[in-house]
Amino acid sequence: MHRSALAAFLILGCSLSAADTIPKSEYAERRAKLQKFLDGVLVIFARDAGSDEVFREFQDTSFLYFSGVEEAGAILLITPKEEVLFLPKRNERAEKYTGPKLGPTDSDVKSRTGFAEVQPLERFEARLHRAAEDYYTVYAFTRKSTAAKLKSLLPLRELADASRPVGKLRMKKSPAEIAAVQRATDVTIQAQIAAWKKLQPGAYEYQAGAAFVGSLMEQGCERVAYAPIVGSGPNSTVLHYNASTRRMDRGEVVVLDAAAECAGYTSDITRTVPVGGKFSARQKQIYEVVLGAQNAAMAAAKPGATMPELQKIAKKYMDDHGDLGKYFIHGLGHPVGLDVHDLGDPGPLENGDIVTIEPGIYIPDEGIGVRIEDVILITETGYKLMSAALPREVADVERAMAKPAASLP
Ligand code: GLY
Ligand code: MN
Ligand code: MN
Repeated sequence: MHRSALAAFLILGCSLSAADTIPKSEYAERRAKLQKFLDGVLVIFARDAGSDEVFREFQDTSFLYFSGVEEAGAILLITPKEEVLFLPKRNERAEKYTGPKLGPTDSDVKSRTGFAEVQPLERFEARLHRAAEDYYTVYAFTRKSTAAKLKSLLPLRELADASRPVGKLRMKKSPAEIAAVQRATDVTIQAQIAAWKKLQPGAYEYQAGAAFVGSLMEQGCERVAYAPIVGSGPNSTVLHYNASTRRMDRGEVVVLDAAAECAGYTSDITRTVPVGGKFSARQKQIYEVVLGAQNAAMAAAKPGATMPELQKIAKKYMDDHGDLGKYFIHGLGHPVGLDVHDLGDPGPLENGDIVTIEPGIYIPDEGIGVRIEDVILITETGYKLMSAALPREVADVERAMAKPAASLP
């Protein structure tokens, strides 16, 4: 879709968030879990205050993960023994634009946030120094500009990357999070089907993108999890193509990599669909190899397996079926959650992890790219295919495309 159209959708999007999906008590449980193994001070900055809310920034997802708080300009400080939420003062003038905010001196601020201690922002520095007296390490997101501020406040402390301890927790999803990703996945499936109806000769890629976004918003979700990829013909071989300007023609395939974000949680699904409804013999041959590779990798998905192991299985399948592994040029998958490329843990998979399995074969010389991407939940004994309801087999995709547009599922 055109960038301006996407921006309009983002602005119109309603404001459901993870704070609406996850029980308040769960945020305190997450902090308590972190405190059990934290060996220093963790500082997380919320999204910047002062930016024009018309071009709103979304909350830092790790800040949201531990607080459920959407406010800009806030700071979270957690040590093994204490947890403090710092909030900026309320600003009457700004609230004319943004609506009411949470303030540090609101009488109900503790019950609304679940924090035993909420302080005004200006107390942060003194409090940080006090907390740092007891610990050598300060964890923060070191790739963010706020890390430099912290370093200048605490020149004698080691600044360590918070991605590891936070990713360890974010990797394993709670029942409420699993339900939230399932909802985003179910909505994505309906929105994909809405977009498939537009994959007709003579139509433009952006029309499929628009159908996708329209459907997810009609279903009550706030936005796309990422700019939809609608790559037809030669564009099917460009991994993250997102111009969506090309006219589609019969005989081409379209890589439709598009997903919804619903109440803060995302999904991530790709299907490769023939324009007009029928794969050519060559497209079908490549599609079957990608599908076989995906099935082989998923069959090995269970607690204890690692993503690099599953990647090797997928590549080997492609090599064993026509020496096609050389065309598989990206990673097999990634964690999915609050972010579509979620913060996670690179170690062995565990019960409760949610990851994508997304092999692809891209042959620019033939103008054929095929990617099939599904979201799986790791269970005690194996995995659950969360996106099973969206056709994946060649015959099922063709059958769905052959139905009169109005009666597609
Ligand atoms: N949609 C981006 C990805 O599949 O990772
Ligand atoms: Mn993905
Ligand atoms: Mn994707």
